[in-house]
Amino acid sequence: MEKLLPKAKQTEFHWLKLAKKRQLTKTIFFLEFEIPQSLQVHFQFEAGQYVTLKYFSMGQWNQNDFSMTSAPYEGKITLGIKINYEKSSAKDLFENLKVGDLLEVSEPKGRFTLVSKPHEFRTIIGFAGGIGITPLLSHFKNILRNEPRTRLFLFYGNKTKEDIAFKNELDELMNSHSDRLKIYYFYSQEKIGNGLFEGRLNEKKVALIINQILLLDDTDEESTIWDAVDEVLICGKGEMIKSVANACYHHGIPKRNIHFELFEEFNEDIYPVEKDFPLIEDIEVDFKLLHHQYSSKLKNNKVRLLQQLLIQGFPVPYSCKSGICGSCECVLEEGDVELLENEYLTEKEEKAGIILACMSVILSKNIKVNFDLN
Ligand code: FES
Repeated sequence: MEKLLPKAKQTEFHWLKLAKKRQLTKTIFFLEFEIPQSLQVHFQFEAGQYVTLKYFSMGQWNQNDFSMTSAPYEGKITLGIKINYEKSSAKDLFENLKVGDLLEVSEPKGRFTLVSKPHEFRTIIGFAGGIGITPLLSHFKNILRNEPRTRLFLFYGNKTKEDIAFKNELDELMNSHSDRLKIYYFYSQEKIGNGLFEGRLNEKKVALIINQILLLDDTDEESTIWDAVDEVLICGKGEMIKSVANACYHHGIPKRNIHFELFEEFNEDIYPVEKDFPLIEDIEVDFKLLHHQYSSKLKNNKVRLLQQLLIQGFPVPYSCKSGICGSCECVLEEGDVELLENEYLTEKEEKAGIILACMSVILSKNIKVNFDLN
């Protein structure tokens, strides 16, 4: 999947040979790269991570990020790539890249990962929209292989049946692990005669899923499957993630257990601010980012610091937007902010003035921050 997030960190690339190429649906294709012995140390990864492809297309160099569908134990890199429109670099890549060609591929990165718990009984739920299935496929294969006690539920939304990517691979996984994996497909533009599975994955649909699918727990009659959920993985478009993440949160899943990966630029907060603050207007922000010094004026403090800078087009790094991953950490050098939530910084770091921009509400007319912590 093509991700449009800002590229804040230095990326190391290596040449990899394309081993397979296949069209999966009308708009999604599959690439598989071989990792030679000499490069294996650079391509060790965790389920849920992504790589950047660097390629020349339509008269310019492109760098786009794509989540891997392969699991770490498979020893290869496989990707699902969506062609969003006719004249795109992704379409060009699909048409011109041939098996045997070499392409520049970055070392894996990304924080959409889970701590493996092979000895625990866990229940993990995945929500995927369209090409958002890619990192979930990596996670699900990995968990099925390494966590024999974990059960998985996947809710996968597409426009129509024809748009489902990786259907064969998902069916094979479900058939070979029918006791631990259940997959439910949803269609936003196809009638299948059952309203539950028609329409988008959103807040309302999550409520129906909880009440109609995750209601009975055969392993524990005292509770429901939903009561037993340990982690939620969500991947897709920003609106879908926001809606599903809020639904999960309002139905009792702590934010630190809701993990999501945004596949598009999305400048809204995922979770709304649940507290009132004094209104501060005409705020001056000075900040250092990627060795550049910037100044910016903000209209007021109604929106958190990260979002305001993203809306203005600054390439501030972020991932979770909910105080969990630490991607947006920076030092507050002048001024005041209130950190709404923090699941990442230690007490010592907070005392040293480190804040998370995604969770910071500005409380002074001027602030100065530094994102170049290293
Ligand atoms: S983006 Fe994850 S902590 Fe801010």
